[in-house]
Amino acid sequence: MSRQQTNLHFLLVVSFLLAFSSTAAGVQISVAGPGSTRCSGRVEIYYNNTWGTVCDDYWDLRDAEVVCRQLGCGTALSATLTAQFGQGTGPIWLDDVACSGSERSLTECRHRGFGKHHCSHYEDAGVICSGSVQNPITSMSPADEGQDIGITCSISTQALGGTLI
Ligand SMILES: *[C@@H]1O[C@H](CO)[C@@H](O)[C@H](O)[C@H]1NC(C)=O
Repeated sequence: MSRQQTNLHFLLVVSFLLAFSSTAAGVQISVAGPGSTRCSGRVEIYYNNTWGTVCDDYWDLRDAEVVCRQLGCGTALSATLTAQFGQGTGPIWLDDVACSGSERSLTECRHRGFGKHHCSHYEDAGVICSGSVQNPITSMSPADEGQDIGITCSISTQALGGTLI
Protein backbone atom coordinates (compact mmCIF):
# COMPACT_ATOMS: atom_id res chain seq x y z
CA MET A 1 0.00 0.00 0.00
CA SER A 2 1.37 3.41 -0.90
CA ARG A 3 1.69 6.10 1.67
CA GLN A 4 -1.11 8.01 -0.03
CA GLN A 5 -3.41 5.01 0.10
CA THR A 6 -2.63 4.53 3.77
CA ASN A 7 -3.50 8.15 4.44
CA LEU A 8 -6.74 7.78 2.51
CA HIS A 9 -7.67 4.71 4.50
CA PHE A 10 -6.91 6.53 7.72
CA LEU A 11 -9.11 9.45 6.66
CA LEU A 12 -11.94 7.15 5.69
CA VAL A 13 -11.82 5.36 9.03
CA VAL A 14 -11.70 8.62 10.96
CA SER A 15 -14.60 10.18 9.06
CA PHE A 16 -16.63 7.03 9.44
CA LEU A 17 -16.03 7.03 13.19
CA LEU A 18 -16.93 10.71 13.44
CA ALA A 19 -20.13 10.22 11.45
CA PHE A 20 -21.05 7.22 13.53
CA SER A 21 -20.44 8.83 16.91
CA SER A 22 -22.31 12.01 16.01
CA THR A 23 -25.27 9.88 14.96
CA ALA A 24 -25.15 7.95 18.20
CA ALA A 25 -25.08 11.15 20.24
CA GLY A 26 -27.34 12.98 17.81
CA VAL A 27 -30.79 12.33 19.24
CA GLN A 28 -31.82 15.81 20.30
CA ILE A 29 -34.30 16.32 23.07
CA SER A 30 -36.47 19.29 23.88
CA VAL A 31 -39.62 20.33 25.70
CA ALA A 32 -42.61 21.98 24.11
CA GLY A 33 -46.32 22.63 24.41
CA PRO A 34 -48.74 25.10 25.99
CA GLY A 35 -47.49 26.17 29.42
CA SER A 36 -44.02 24.79 28.79
CA THR A 37 -40.83 26.53 29.84
CA ARG A 38 -37.21 25.87 28.93
CA CYS A 39 -37.19 23.22 31.65
CA SER A 40 -40.73 21.86 31.66
CA GLY A 41 -43.08 20.65 29.01
CA ARG A 42 -43.98 17.84 26.69
CA VAL A 43 -40.91 15.75 25.88
CA GLU A 44 -39.95 15.89 22.22
CA ILE A 45 -37.24 13.83 20.56
CA TYR A 46 -35.62 14.52 17.20
CA TYR A 47 -35.15 11.23 15.40
CA ASN A 48 -35.09 10.36 11.69
CA ASN A 49 -35.21 14.11 10.94
CA THR A 50 -38.56 14.43 12.68
CA TRP A 51 -39.62 15.74 16.08
CA GLY A 52 -41.82 13.24 17.90
CA THR A 53 -43.13 12.51 21.36
CA VAL A 54 -42.87 9.96 24.16
CA CYS A 55 -45.78 7.87 25.44
CA ASP A 56 -46.64 8.05 29.15
CA ASP A 57 -46.84 4.26 29.67
CA TYR A 58 -44.56 3.50 32.67
CA TRP A 59 -43.36 7.14 32.53
CA ASP A 60 -42.05 8.07 35.97
CA LEU A 61 -39.67 10.28 37.91
CA ARG A 62 -36.61 8.22 36.98
CA ASP A 63 -37.33 8.81 33.30
CA ALA A 64 -37.93 12.51 33.94
CA GLU A 65 -34.64 12.62 35.86
CA VAL A 66 -32.74 11.63 32.71
CA VAL A 67 -34.58 14.19 30.58
CA CYS A 68 -33.92 16.97 33.10
CA ARG A 69 -30.24 16.05 33.23
CA GLN A 70 -30.05 16.06 29.44
CA LEU A 71 -31.71 19.46 29.28
CA GLY A 72 -29.32 20.88 31.87
CA CYS A 73 -32.36 21.61 34.01
CA GLY A 74 -31.42 20.13 37.37
CA THR A 75 -33.47 17.39 38.97
CA ALA A 76 -36.94 16.14 38.12
CA LEU A 77 -39.85 17.46 40.17
CA SER A 78 -42.55 15.71 38.20
CA ALA A 79 -43.13 13.27 35.37
CA THR A 80 -46.31 14.46 33.70
CA LEU A 81 -48.84 12.19 32.02
CA THR A 82 -51.80 12.38 29.62
CA ALA A 83 -50.56 15.30 27.55
CA GLN A 84 -50.52 17.75 30.45
CA PHE A 85 -48.51 20.06 28.16
CA GLY A 86 -50.74 19.48 25.16
CA GLN A 87 -50.68 16.83 22.48
CA GLY A 88 -47.82 16.62 20.01
CA THR A 89 -48.34 16.02 16.34
CA GLY A 90 -45.34 14.08 15.06
CA PRO A 91 -44.56 10.39 15.44
CA ILE A 92 -44.66 8.82 18.88
CA TRP A 93 -41.02 7.80 19.01
CA LEU A 94 -40.76 6.09 22.40
CA ASP A 95 -43.03 3.94 24.54
CA ASP A 96 -42.59 1.91 27.73
CA VAL A 97 -39.50 3.93 28.62
CA ALA A 98 -37.79 2.42 31.64
CA CYS A 99 -34.78 4.41 32.79
CA SER A 100 -32.84 3.58 35.93
CA GLY A 101 -32.31 7.32 36.34
CA SER A 102 -28.55 7.38 35.80
CA GLU A 103 -28.54 7.23 31.98
CA ARG A 104 -26.95 10.12 30.12
CA SER A 105 -29.74 10.28 27.58
CA LEU A 106 -33.33 9.09 27.28
CA THR A 107 -32.59 6.94 24.25
CA GLU A 108 -30.12 4.91 26.35
CA CYS A 109 -33.02 3.78 28.51
CA ARG A 110 -34.90 0.60 27.81
CA HIS A 111 -37.85 1.17 25.48
CA ARG A 112 -39.89 -0.67 22.84
CA GLY A 113 -37.85 0.66 19.91
CA PHE A 114 -38.13 3.86 17.92
CA GLY A 115 -41.63 4.34 16.56
CA LYS A 116 -42.93 1.17 18.22
CA HIS A 117 -45.85 2.00 20.49
CA HIS A 118 -49.47 1.38 21.31
CA CYS A 119 -50.30 4.96 22.22
CA SER A 120 -52.06 8.10 21.06
CA HIS A 121 -50.96 11.69 21.52
CA TYR A 122 -53.32 12.20 24.47
CA GLU A 123 -50.76 10.05 26.32
CA ASP A 124 -47.82 12.33 25.59
CA ALA A 125 -45.29 12.38 28.43
CA GLY A 126 -43.74 15.48 29.93
CA VAL A 127 -41.38 16.71 32.62
CA ILE A 128 -41.13 19.44 35.19
CA CYS A 129 -37.52 20.03 36.21
CA SER A 130 -36.14 21.97 39.15
CA GLY A 131 -34.49 24.40 36.74
CA SER A 132 -37.89 25.59 35.55
CA VAL A 133 -38.23 29.23 34.75
CA GLN A 134 -41.38 30.75 33.39
CA ASN A 135 -41.03 31.23 29.67
CA PRO A 136 -40.93 34.82 28.60
CA ILE A 137 -44.29 35.80 27.18
CA THR A 138 -43.53 36.30 23.53
CA SER A 139 -45.65 37.99 20.97
CA MET A 140 -44.64 37.89 17.35
CA SER A 141 -45.75 40.30 14.69
CA PRO A 142 -47.19 38.33 11.79
CA ALA A 143 -44.73 37.96 8.97
CA ASP A 144 -44.44 36.02 5.75
CA GLU A 145 -41.32 34.16 4.77
CA GLY A 146 -38.46 36.50 4.00
CA GLN A 147 -39.86 39.40 6.00
CA ASP A 148 -38.42 40.71 9.21
CA ILE A 149 -40.00 39.26 12.30
CA GLY A 150 -40.58 41.38 15.36
CA ILE A 151 -40.53 39.62 18.72
CA THR A 152 -41.63 41.22 21.94
CA CYS A 153 -40.38 39.58 25.09
CA SER A 154 -41.57 40.00 28.65
CA ILE A 155 -40.82 37.82 31.61
CA SER A 156 -43.01 36.99 34.57
CA THR A 157 -41.30 36.54 37.91
CA GLN A 158 -43.91 34.04 39.05
CA ALA A 159 -41.64 31.13 38.28
CA LEU A 160 -42.59 27.62 39.29
CA GLY A 161 -41.71 27.11 42.92
CA GLY A 162 -40.68 30.74 43.15
CA THR A 163 -37.07 30.01 42.22
CA LEU A 164 -35.33 31.79 39.43
CA ILE A 165 -32.11 30.17 38.31
C1 LIG B 1 -37.76 7.84 8.45
O1 LIG B 1 -38.11 8.77 7.46
C2 LIG B 1 -38.30 8.22 6.18
C3 LIG B 1 -38.53 9.35 5.20
O2 LIG B 1 -39.51 10.23 5.68
C4 LIG B 1 -39.45 7.22 6.22
O3 LIG B 1 -39.65 6.64 4.94
C5 LIG B 1 -39.15 6.15 7.25
O4 LIG B 1 -40.25 5.27 7.37
C6 LIG B 1 -38.83 6.77 8.58
N1 LIG B 1 -38.41 5.76 9.54
C7 LIG B 1 -39.00 5.62 10.72
C8 LIG B 1 -38.39 4.63 11.63
O5 LIG B 1 -39.97 6.28 11.05
